Amino acid sequence: MTVANEPTGYSGTQILLHWTIAVLIVLPLVIGEDIKPAYRAFSRGTEPAADDIFNANVHVYVGLAVLVLATWRFAVRLRHGVPAAPSEESAVLKRIAAATHFLLYLFIFGMPITGALAWYFGLAAMGEIHQLAKPVIIVVVGLHAAAALWQHFYMKSDVLMRMLRPASRHAR
Ligand code: HEM
Ligand code: HEM
Repeated sequence: MTVANEPTGYSGTQILLHWTIAVLIVLPLVIGEDIKPAYRAFSRGTEPAADDIFNANVHVYVGLAVLVLATWRFAVRLRHGVPAAPSEESAVLKRIAAATHFLLYLFIFGMPITGALAWYFGLAAMGEIHQLAKPVIIVVVGLHAAAALWQHFYMKSDVLMRMLRPASRHAR
């Protein structure tokens, strides 16, 4: 959909937030299991070992940082907007890109929220959803990254560059 004041690209803030979140999300995704010993101990009502508490804190605070940055990012998106998909892209691909971006937003909000509901409120079902999402996120992020590289190297569009250089510096 084209909005009246569609920007020519992403702002510096949007780019910084995109890559910061992309880096931060990797940590809980890769060392996700490290929170489990402390979570199990708390669920059983026993005291976790100091190392397990440390590992859990890294997971929790990095995850909560993602939530804060995702909220900021969404607010910037509402204010600044996002550039249109390349005009030569087919309607189907545009829809796939929009759906992928929606899913990525769902993950950067949904992961910390479901994790927090399990951790702070002991909602085991939320912990299950939180864990089941892991492979789905890996597939969606993989497709998203592959699509960005395909746009850059094969389609020779500006899609990857506009997530690297702020709009004002490459506006036409
Ligand atoms: C970007 C954010 C996050 C990501 C990508 C993430 C990812 C993961 C992964 C991959 C696992 C282990 C899945 C497995 O290997 O079986 C996990 C477990 C867990 N995470 Fe997170 N996490 C995030 C944020 C959080 C936050 C903010 C909290 C708490 C405030 C949290 C609490 C938990 C808990 C309690 C478990 C264990 C669940 C269970 O065993 O049922 N996570 N997380
Ligand atoms: C790892 C977690 C990642 C998340 C959560 C994520 C999320 C997103 C989201 C939601 C958008 C839509 C634009 C917006 O509304 O801000 C976007 C755009 C973009 N992402 Fe990612 N991304 C990730 C990783 C990557 C990686 C690894 C690459 C490149 C290899 C990449 C390249 C891009 C590009 C080029 C765009 C612009 C697409 C366009 O303008 O149509 N992203 N990303």
